[in-house]
Amino acid sequence: MSEQEDRTFFDTFMMVLAFLIVFTVVIFAIANMTANRTIADRHVQTPDAQERLAERIRPVGRLCLEGYEDDCEVAIAQVERPAAADDEALAEADEVDGQQVYNQACTSCHGQGVAGAPATGDQGAWSARLDKGYETLLEHSIDGFQGDAGFMPARGGNPNLSDDQVAAALDYMLEQLD
Ligand code: HEC
Repeated sequence: MSEQEDRTFFDTFMMVLAFLIVFTVVIFAIANMTANRTIADRHVQTPDAQERLAERIRPVGRLCLEGYEDDCEVAIAQVERPAAADDEALAEADEVDGQQVYNQACTSCHGQGVAGAPATGDQGAWSARLDKGYETLLEHSIDGFQGDAGFMPARGGNPNLSDDQVAAALDYMLEQLD
């Protein structure tokens, strides 16, 4: 190979090399630009996307403390407790729901009169028991009672019930006799 040929080869080779380098740089620049645009659209850093994200992970509820109303989205006036006139209704709502306790803890036996339990609403089954007096019935409801008919477990077998809850359930049960 002559020197002239060497030279030509070298020049061509360099040109191809230079072209490839430029080509690479151009491709890189284009890729970067496109990526920037699409990422900007989808990326969590745009205010729009931030808003959508916040909406998706928004908590279901918020604690709103009296005295710190500024932190609340809901004006406190809207959730203000009812006026004094409604206090009585409120107190009533706060009371234990005897029917609910009864349904949960007593109805399994007393509903149909299972295993010797006096059935709710059955005058005949209850009249003799009513003669014992309310206090005794309440005591037997709370502490349990072994009678001739069967075994009445303390608090209907639900030790988590408070005295008030058992009393409310008993009241409900006795009301059904009327
Ligand atoms: C596992 C069944 C069972 C459950 C649950 C149950 N009882 Fe009884 N209960 C009885 C039986 C049986 C008797 C009858 C016992 C007897 O006189 O021999 C009875 C009797 C009673 C009596 C009459 C006690 C007496 O001195 O004559 C009262 C009052 C009473 N239950 C209240 C309740 C209340 C209130 C609940 C719910 C909190 C409840 N019971 C849940 C079985 C049950």
